[in-house]
Amino acid sequence: MIQRPRGTRDFGPAEMHKRRKAEQAMRDVCHRFGFGEVVTPTFEHSELFKLRSGPQVVEEMYVFRDKGDRELALRPEITASVIRYFVNDLSTAPRPLKFYYVGNCFRYENPQSGRYREFFQLGAELIGNKNPETDAEVIALAVNCIRAAGLENFVVRIGHIGILKSLVQSEVKDDAVVSDILRMLDKEDFDALGDMFDAKTLPRKLFDRITAIAEIKGEIDLLNNLEQSEVTDYVREIFSVLKIFGLEDCQLDLGIVRGLDYYTGMVFEIDAPNLGAEKQILGGGSYTLSELFGGEPVFSTGFAIGIDRVMLALEKERTPEPHQPLDAFVVPAKDDMRKYVLGIVARLRSQGLRVDVDLMRRTLSKSLKYASSANAKYAIIVGKEEMAKRSVTLRDMKSGEQEVVLADEVGSKIKGRVG
Ligand code: HAM
Repeated sequence: MIQRPRGTRDFGPAEMHKRRKAEQAMRDVCHRFGFGEVVTPTFEHSELFKLRSGPQVVEEMYVFRDKGDRELALRPEITASVIRYFVNDLSTAPRPLKFYYVGNCFRYENPQSGRYREFFQLGAELIGNKNPETDAEVIALAVNCIRAAGLENFVVRIGHIGILKSLVQSEVKDDAVVSDILRMLDKEDFDALGDMFDAKTLPRKLFDRITAIAEIKGEIDLLNNLEQSEVTDYVREIFSVLKIFGLEDCQLDLGIVRGLDYYTGMVFEIDAPNLGAEKQILGGGSYTLSELFGGEPVFSTGFAIGIDRVMLALEKERTPEPHQPLDAFVVPAKDDMRKYVLGIVARLRSQGLRVDVDLMRRTLSKSLKYASSANAKYAIIVGKEEMAKRSVTLRDMKSGEQEVVLADEVGSKIKGRVG
């Protein structure tokens, strides 16, 4: 038997129903915020991601050569593609550009619950400006998406990479070492960071300062522990705009560094605490990438939601509602009514109802058993007598109650009841 590749999944209809519902709710929010959908290729020239994603993402990339000997990569994320699209085709379009996307991404990671080699993101990018309102707008969109998906327990943490980055850069001139330091701060691996400082004889004072800042997490007032600067004023302003948007309980977290290397300003993450190790359901922030792809530098702010993790968190939060794929299952009582019932099925479907019919030529009782296992709300039974009177027997599958209804009226009757 051929198995699916490690770290990938198959999704059945019940799971897809839930995923699409959550996804649609999030898409609706994106539209309400004025974001339009874009789709970019699933594979790109590998260079696109190598330029600024950072060593971790590059290491995990699925890279291959095509028959024309081009080095391509399955996208590990979608931000770089959206900015490439912007530089290629949209650099003169009126700004800001507000885009959202839904798609699969690929990273060669160690698979576990919530961590896959193929996973799905819904993300958004606002291209064209950098100011606290822009950043707050993107954070508000993210939070509203998560809420619309139905999640109640989540924590929004907001920081600014400029604080740690500028401190480190003021004393460390090698960009690769700066990146390594920031990555260890992101992982809160302070022991390894200390060892690295010792090995490279970097100033201990810097270590103490950056680890202290990375541990500033909680109320916005904790910013008072830092010297006032342009960055602290900027972060305060983001929180004040978020308040106007009705988002009062966001936390300050100056330890957020993010796994991708392209961020330059505000950074934010959302966790679903009930997920344990893989609790980060969203990551984002402001960055510039366009200049690396041949365009002028343009500020953008964006995020990506890990749809798989949102679905896992939703499952932990509430008892799943029964999947109701069918409004009605139509059953001919005898073989010679099979064609007649197909006409009824076609009419009900054209009225917008979700209707299925016995295609296995089962007996009446077996068909009813199937209708029940398919979780149909109603069974519509057509016998000889019903056919003669142009009627049907409508059976409520839950209560077992039955009534005879005119065939022409059964559609509106069901519609009135299923809403
Ligand atoms: P990221 O933090 O790498 O950011 O990914 C965003 C989200 O995708 C994560 O928070 C997580 O929920 C989900 N995710 C990442 N890797 C996996 C995996 N292996 N399995 C399951 N879920 C995963 C980005 O991708 C940036 N492009 C976000 C962004 C957009 N920044 C600015 N604009």
